Amino acid sequence: MAFIQYHLSVYVFLVFLIVVDSFPTCKYVNEEETEVVCNENGDTSYALTQRLVSDNNKTISISLKGCKISSIDDGSFHNFLSLKYLDLSQNQITELKIGALDGANQLIYLNLSNNFLSEIRSGLFNQTINLNTLDLTGNKLKQLKQGAFDNLQKLGHLGLSNNNLQGKDLDPFLFNHNTHISYIDFSANEMNGSPDTLLSTMQALEFLNLERCLLNEVPTFVTRRNLITMKTLILSKNEISKLDNPTIFINLENLMKLNLAENILDQINADVFKPLKKLKVIVLRENKIKYLPENLFQNMKNLANIDLSHNLIESVPVNAFRGTSVKNLNLSNNRFTYLSDNFCLELRNSGAKLTKFYFNQNPWQCTCLMSLLNEVKKLEISYNSLYYDGKYPVCVTTKEIFCKRHDSFNSIYTELYDDIASAEN
Ligand SMILES: *[C@@H]1O[C@H](CO)[C@@H](O)[C@H](O)[C@H]1NC(C)=O
Ligand SMILES: *[C@@H]1O[C@H](CO)[C@@H](O)[C@H](O)[C@H]1NC(C)=O
Ligand SMILES: *[C@@H]1O[C@H](CO)[C@@H](O)[C@H](O)[C@H]1NC(C)=O
Ligand SMILES: *[C@@H]1O[C@H](CO)[C@@H](O)[C@H](O)[C@H]1NC(C)=O
Repeated sequence: MAFIQYHLSVYVFLVFLIVVDSFPTCKYVNEEETEVVCNENGDTSYALTQRLVSDNNKTISISLKGCKISSIDDGSFHNFLSLKYLDLSQNQITELKIGALDGANQLIYLNLSNNFLSEIRSGLFNQTINLNTLDLTGNKLKQLKQGAFDNLQKLGHLGLSNNNLQGKDLDPFLFNHNTHISYIDFSANEMNGSPDTLLSTMQALEFLNLERCLLNEVPTFVTRRNLITMKTLILSKNEISKLDNPTIFINLENLMKLNLAENILDQINADVFKPLKKLKVIVLRENKIKYLPENLFQNMKNLANIDLSHNLIESVPVNAFRGTSVKNLNLSNNRFTYLSDNFCLELRNSGAKLTKFYFNQNPWQCTCLMSLLNEVKKLEISYNSLYYDGKYPVCVTTKEIFCKRHDSFNSIYTELYDDIASAEN
């Protein structure tokens, strides 16, 4: 018995030493004593208790970023009557007990990004009902249970990217009380199979990020009628292969930026973008687009930035861009050998303000490239001249001296170009 007791007391003593050793040090960083910043102070992790920052109802902001905190005791923020900003990012927090935030009733900003949280208990936010910004990026959340955010009726910004969420397991009514969210980031979670109603109560959503969500189609939950407020939609780095339903974006009348880069798109309905009347920026970089429909962007008056680089486009109809306000056009890294005569002038005459035009890394017929280079120089349009210093093969030529503007000649030039390109490597 005595033997065991001896060991126990040594153990307790060690724990005590470790805790003291790794106490973060905190100090006020302004004269008014409203802002506290703490820094890590040792190698071991630390359980946040009430003792850390003495309670002070002047404190408005506390940063405990990167302080090796592993857990937070109930009541740690009791008596912080004025606390509005709390940064707990980059710690090692694995769980938050239901009362962990109790007392911080004025909190409007809570950053829990880059911790090890695997769940959000319902009730956690019962007292922090003024929260506007909640960042849960980079945790281990698998599930978000019904009711988790129910008390956060003022929530505007929600970061959920880089977790282990499975869209198919998300509660269809998860955000039923969060009608004011304007920014939501689900990137780097698996969102295929999410409920159609997931965002259906949102009245003010402007920014939605679904990058790297393993999507193989544009999900129904992002295109519903209530999302008419949306301005930015990011769907890049997924596995979307088709945009064949011409009405899919019919509700997104106010969308200004659509990013579909790095998907596997090869089928695009000619009318699919037409409902996006306010669209300014479209990014279709790194897809498998071979065929550009003749009127794809035609008369989209606000469209100013079009990135179609790194596709397989063999032929570029000037009509596709007529009546837009395209200013930056990127057609580099495709498969066309010519453009129609006076391509830039025609676009300018149709209202486009073309000022930056990238067309490098295509199997150009040399005569056609020359005529385009003459045109862009004359119109003072900037282009990517990086490869046009005589050191790189930029175009191919046969004995012909005229630019052959017909697709039946393409294969002659693309084959020549590929031969040279493969010899280079
Ligand atoms: C700070 O809290 C104490 C105790 O609740 C209270 O008496 C005092 O009036 C508060 N001061 C301010 C500035 O809110
Ligand atoms: C949360 O903190 C991280 C740094 O740890 C920062 O990069 C991120 O922008 C913060 N989130 C918000 C919403 O301010
Ligand atoms: C949190 O609030 C909800 C109602 O808003 C209530 O049903 C629930 O019991 C509360 N949870 C705790 C732990 O207080
Ligand atoms: C064109 O695409 C390349 C990458 O493919 C990018 O670096 C460049 O900024 C783009 N240029 C324009 C004008 O969009």
